[in-house]
Amino acid sequence: MGERPNLLDPEVRANPYPLYARLRQEAPVCQVDPRGMWLLTRHEEVTFALKHPELFSSSALSRALEVGWLGRAHPLASGMSFADPPRHGRLRGLVQQAFTPAALAGLEPFVRSVVEPLVTNLLERRQVDFIQEFCMPLASSVIGQLLGLDTFLFKRVKRWAEVVAAMSSVSPQDTARQEQVRTSVEELRAYLEEVIDARRHQPREDTVSALVQARVEGEALTQEELLSFLFLLLVAGMETTVVLLGSAMRLLRERPEVFSWLRADTGRVPRFVEEVLRYEPPVQGPLRVATQEVELAGVRIPAGALVMPVVASALRDEQHVTDGERFDPERDGYSLLAFGHGIHFCLGAPLARLEARVALEVLLPQCAGLGGESEQVVWSKALAMRGPAVLPIELFPANQPT
Ligand code: HEM
Repeated sequence: MGERPNLLDPEVRANPYPLYARLRQEAPVCQVDPRGMWLLTRHEEVTFALKHPELFSSSALSRALEVGWLGRAHPLASGMSFADPPRHGRLRGLVQQAFTPAALAGLEPFVRSVVEPLVTNLLERRQVDFIQEFCMPLASSVIGQLLGLDTFLFKRVKRWAEVVAAMSSVSPQDTARQEQVRTSVEELRAYLEEVIDARRHQPREDTVSALVQARVEGEALTQEELLSFLFLLLVAGMETTVVLLGSAMRLLRERPEVFSWLRADTGRVPRFVEEVLRYEPPVQGPLRVATQEVELAGVRIPAGALVMPVVASALRDEQHVTDGERFDPERDGYSLLAFGHGIHFCLGAPLARLEARVALEVLLPQCAGLGGESEQVVWSKALAMRGPAVLPIELFPANQPT
């Protein structure tokens, strides 16, 4: 295999798929940099790891969340994404009462009401950074709505999401940044506590009310668990959705024939979105920690190792997908792994799909074509994420000559 691959290598950042393809053939269980992390790149080992939380733990990851300077526990520490069975099952059983497919489908009119003026703005401006002008405001409004925040706070959701996601990487010496982060976290906490109190006294037809009322065998979420879940929604639901919308638009801009095919019949949008999720999954791979020495594909992974089952590679595994390196919006959907597998399967999957579908259903009839240079894409910096962080794009309105 030669030198140890580095996921932060600029060539790999720009396009990780050739590396994944090579690893699937030559070293499907392999150690890479940074941090000597272990990558699993074949469908078989990826699904095995995600199905075996007793061997590949999520709770052991919470050690990385410890930040002494915060003055209290990390807001995600008591949340479900850093929990293993049996605790995970209890939390998941409670929160999924607020995340039923019906409850998420009920958000469609709200999503449409956000998308429509955003699309009008795009077509008036014509040359925009699609991420700033469309993806961010849409994703933050939806998360703001789920958190029960007042509309005027929706604009702050993006900053809060960034703060929570970046908290563990603030240097112990950077006291100024620590102070900023502490202030932002306390500010958000205060708003969320206000919402929780209000819904306890006067429930509404919304997510926070459903979370407050959820019971399994008479037991409810504690205040800390509730807050932790609301903080988790920021991290789990913001950048992922931004990147999905951005990747969908980038692929359409680079493939005018797919744009025309989709525009000719917007009933094809859900299938297109599934192929975007397969071909460019926003989360390249969740992280786990090996609880003991585990042998996979003849390779020993030591106890305590950081492991990434790379779903983005499994979704192109030649043993499972025909011609997986080709973007084919007419293929029968095979993207479930993009939302994880097993007990931590994404709770927001129907919502992410809904946002992408409504965005394209509203945009396509009003837009005759897309332009812009492909070299101008700036990629997301987060290690496990892939998608545009900046996407300059030109939109040609349908009612004007292109
Ligand atoms: C395209 C958008 C999205 C993608 C690609 C995505 C992907 C994922 C993945 C891969 C996981 C599994 C993580 C693991 O195994 O450790 C996950 C979990 C989760 N996602 Fe999403 N997600 C998206 C959008 C959302 C949205 C919009 C929400 C909510 C508003 C959300 C809420 C969650 C939650 C709460 C979990 C944790 C579930 C658990 O630990 O049991 N996600 N997501």
